[in-house]
Amino acid sequence: MMDNSVVYNTFFDHLRTSLSNETFAKLTLAKTIGNTQLLNIYVKPVKLKQELKLSLTYHFQTQDKVENYDIEEGIEVLKSYINNPFLSAILFTTQADIALKLNKKRVATIIESKPTFTQSVAQTHDQPKKRLIEADKANYLMHLGIVDEKGQVIKSMADKYRQINKYIEIIEGLVKNAAISKEDFQVIDMGSGKGYLTFALYDYLVNNLGINATVIGIELRKELVDLCNSIAQKCGFKNLHFVSERIENYKTEKIDLLIALHACDTATDDALYKGISAGAQLIVCAPCCHKQIRKQLHCSTELTPVLKHGIFEERQAEMLTDGLRSLLLESQGYKSKVFEFISNEHTRKNVMIVGSKMKDNKNQRTVKAQIDQLKLAYGIKEQQLETLLINNGFYNV
Ligand SMILES: C[S@@+](CC[C@H](N)C(=O)[O-])C[C@H]1O[C@@H](n2cnc3c(N)ncnc32)[C@H](O)[C@@H]1O
Repeated sequence: MMDNSVVYNTFFDHLRTSLSNETFAKLTLAKTIGNTQLLNIYVKPVKLKQELKLSLTYHFQTQDKVENYDIEEGIEVLKSYINNPFLSAILFTTQADIALKLNKKRVATIIESKPTFTQSVAQTHDQPKKRLIEADKANYLMHLGIVDEKGQVIKSMADKYRQINKYIEIIEGLVKNAAISKEDFQVIDMGSGKGYLTFALYDYLVNNLGINATVIGIELRKELVDLCNSIAQKCGFKNLHFVSERIENYKTEKIDLLIALHACDTATDDALYKGISAGAQLIVCAPCCHKQIRKQLHCSTELTPVLKHGIFEERQAEMLTDGLRSLLLESQGYKSKVFEFISNEHTRKNVMIVGSKMKDNKNQRTVKAQIDQLKLAYGIKEQQLETLLINNGFYNV
């Protein structure tokens, strides 16, 4: 039997050959083992400043990350992921499909079969990134002032455009991995503001993913609601509506996906509560200011001497508020994830909390003890989401 490293070398020799004779079509690492957030690595050649590189897209549950490497460096990186966590790597060339597979005993073999692809991939040059929401194809972006009449992104709105695309990328991953109905999917976006993200989400769910979605934006400011409804009408988005209402007063029994992006202070908690009480399958929020907890912080821990600095106190309040929110989601049977959804250089308000509803809820007692301990340590008497859950009988262990 051949040593695994010999098999790996043979496989990556095929990759080198396919790059040099331009027969490369696709390379994917798949079939993971163990507990990992990384689902796939997709590989393609790119030419950067006239030099051929390997571009690796790391596909995680909630986001993608792209890194470019010199060819040999890229191959070493790929090797390090074989058997950790990937059990298969498939190289598609125009001459053959070449699969490297590890069996139950982790013995590697190569299986060659007829080529799936008849055309090799172009070795793309430094091109602008293809976005999920294409600037020149989305009419509403012009009405919202993100692109000009030629479909070019307006310079001052470039960050917003990037943010919209990042957000759609995240939602796409979540929706594809959740058990949702494509026939009847209701999204409520609380604190929808000017609706940049609400429009993009509707467009992507309905026109790209073919989901029969109704999207409703809830927003205090009537002038924004009227503007958004008129743009929705102009674009023919018949199941996109905006309602002028306070989040806490909005009543609905059906929420499949609850969104709350930068809703102010405890409005995020009101929105989270609406999502939890309606049994939303997915909850996505990016909190904004964290005044409620900041006002209460009276801790006497080893951190006390550094919390005299306003910036640390602010960050501590953010972490505690959002940490408590994620624990409260867990107490209600959601799996929670907290991550940075857009780079710090674009906005400081870049933490996203995602809750995905699980089948059962066994943890409430344990999680409640963790929440109580945190509140005690930091002198927190009240947190809005917790109060709402207690007052409405959702949290009574
Ligand atoms: C910072 S903006 C964010 C807009 C949008 N979600 C985005 O991320 O682009 C927050 C919006 O939430 C609205 N808002 C704040 N509190 C609210 C409440 N209790 N009910 C409804 N809307 C609220 C504000 O009027 C504002 O338009």
